[in-house]
Order: sequence, then structure tokens, then C-alpha cells
Amino acid sequence: MQAIKIQDNIYWVGAIDWSMRNFHGYETGRGTTYNAYLIIDERITLIDTVKAPFKEELIARISSVIDPSKIDVIVSSHVEPDHSSALPFIAALAPTAEIITSNPNGLKGLTARYGQLNYKAVKAGDSISIGSRTLQFVPTPMLHWPDSMVTYCPEEKILFSNDAFGEHYATARLFDDENDPDVIMYESKKYYANILMPFGKQAQTALKALGGLDIDLIATGHGVIRRQSINRIVESYRQWSGGAVEDRAVVVFDSMWGSTEKIAKTIVEAFASKGIAAAYYDIKANAMSDIVTDVFTSKYLAVGSPTINNQMMPTIASFLCYIKGLRPINHAGFAFGSYGWGGQSIGLVEDELRAAGVEIILDKIRVTNVPTTDQLSEIATKIQSIA
Ligand code: FEO
Repeated sequence: MQAIKIQDNIYWVGAIDWSMRNFHGYETGRGTTYNAYLIIDERITLIDTVKAPFKEELIARISSVIDPSKIDVIVSSHVEPDHSSALPFIAALAPTAEIITSNPNGLKGLTARYGQLNYKAVKAGDSISIGSRTLQFVPTPMLHWPDSMVTYCPEEKILFSNDAFGEHYATARLFDDENDPDVIMYESKKYYANILMPFGKQAQTALKALGGLDIDLIATGHGVIRRQSINRIVESYRQWSGGAVEDRAVVVFDSMWGSTEKIAKTIVEAFASKGIAAAYYDIKANAMSDIVTDVFTSKYLAVGSPTINNQMMPTIASFLCYIKGLRPINHAGFAFGSYGWGGQSIGLVEDELRAAGVEIILDKIRVTNVPTTDQLSEIATKIQSIA
């Protein structure tokens, strides 16, 4: 386990989690990395740690450059354990190191998790000198925890951005231009959709705070280090945080005996015949995190469920619960489904869509038992009527 040099006297010393497939419910099909950075200066500085099970990997990479006991400063950008849970182990190896965290939320969070360590709490505008370099601290509250902050080094023009601008993507090739750009952008969008979607306003505030900085490198907390795609990711964040949507539809459904599935197919084809691209997601066959990524930038959302025990299918309830928490904006949609008797599910889906902030633009589509050819034609005509 070797450190990887990213600039003179600056090294990536993080860990690669190739096998991570579920990150607190977020389906991470391509794994992830926990990025940490070591700066060799008069005061040797570590920016972030890693998830505790990977602490030996972090320690080995640091040790390939210096003895970890020589670390003078540890910057903890974010209390979430994927970045901080190896902190007490590094602090034990470097007991005199000063641990920089945000004031007051980083300080509160680290103290609650790891007890009293050698903390120094910083606020907006604070900076420290580590010798020939300066570290400037920029709080980015609720991006995506109250304590989140980023660190800028003006002499190197590096932004250590922690969760912002990153993605869950395991790679041993650290830089953006060493990886497939389309895969990286998809994973960045997926990260934003699944983690940052509720915090668009906070993202815009952070973009303003970072707007004046001259940045050559974004050293993220997950995934690749950006040197070629800085403008692309910043512009994407600008659009995503503003709620930009495309004229595109997402159709999500579960089905018991194929009737709701027939309606879903009809809806997708009806959108397509209007010239609106539509994605078809059988919830049993797709990861919710991927569906949400598509929903995020698609104007239309149609959700279907048959009725089971007077309820919607639990799969669809789970999806709608997830969507509601992510607080999507600028979406329009409707509910659909088949039923044998009762038929409560379709109204419940509509209620949940409304509660998630989706504008209901079509009365719920309800079909008993199996949809006839005429009923499917009527459904297609209704979709055609959507402006
Ligand atoms: Fe990557 Fe919010 O922790």
C-alpha cells in the first residue's frame, strides 16, 4: 500500500473499497474510495481519514511517506464515519496533532463520537499556515451534514472538497482523465441525486462561497481527483442545485400478475410517441439509487402499483418514501395501477407523489383486473393530452 503523489509533497493516502455495494441504502454498484491527503510541509498535515475498517490501508500509505507520529495537523472535513472513523486511531499514533474541525457542529459531532481529542474548531474565514502553504476553511453546512466544510490551499490551487463534487467509484487511477468520463459523470450525478438532492439551496450557497477561488485541482472525498473536468462538474452542480429538468419521463412500477406492467408499457410508448423519451423501471429489476438518478433530471414521473391488502406494494412504498425524503423539485406526474377489488393503492401512490412535491397533472389511472385493448388506448390518449 503506497501513497500516490498528486503534487510535489502532496499525496493521496486514502483507501479503495472495491466491494462496497450498499452505502446506507445507496446502491454503490461500482464501489467507492475514501480519499485522504497528506501534505508534507513544516507542519505535516493529513486532510481527512477513512472508514475505520480501512485504517490499516491509510496507515500503510502514510507510512510509505513518513512516520504517522510526525503528523502535526489533521483536518476533519466531515464527521460522517466514512471520513472520520479512523480518526481516533490516527490521533493515537500522532497524539500531539491538532485536529481541525468546524465550529460548532464538527466539534460537537467529533466529541460525541470519539471523546475529547486535541480539537481546534474553525469557522468561515479562518485559515492556518502549515509552512509554505496556507489552509483556508470554508464551511459548507448541510452539504450534506451540519458540520461539513471544505479546505482550500491557495498556493497549490487545490480545493479539498470532501463529499462535494465526488462520486462513489472505486478506482486505482486517481485522476478524472484516467477514467471513463461518462461513467464518472453518471456516478457524480447519482451521488448528487442520492445524497445532495435535498440541499440544492445549500449547494448554491457553497458554489457562491467557492466562486472566487482559483482551482487547478479538486481533491474530493470519494472517487476521482478532478483536474480536467473542474468546469464540467461545477457547472453540473449549478444546474442540479437549481433543479434543472429535461423533457423526459420516468415510469416506475411494480406488478403482481402483469396488468400494472401492461399499463406501464403503454405509458412509456405513449410518451415516446409524443417525442418524450421515457424510461421503464420495473422496481424489482432496478436499483432504487439508479431510478432516483433518472427521476432527478426528468420532468415527468409516473408511478404504478397494484393493490395488495388495501395498500400499495411495499416496494413502491419504499421508493416513494425515499423520493419524499429527497424532496425533488420541478417534477410533474401521476399514479396508475390495476386492482382486483378495492383499488386503494393508486390513490395512496398519488397522495405520496403529492407529498413528495410532485405536481399531479393527470387524474390517477385505475384499471380493474386486466386492461383491455380499448382501455390501453384510452390511457395512451390521456398521455398524449399532457402538455
Ligand atoms: Fe462521504 Fe457524508 O460522507
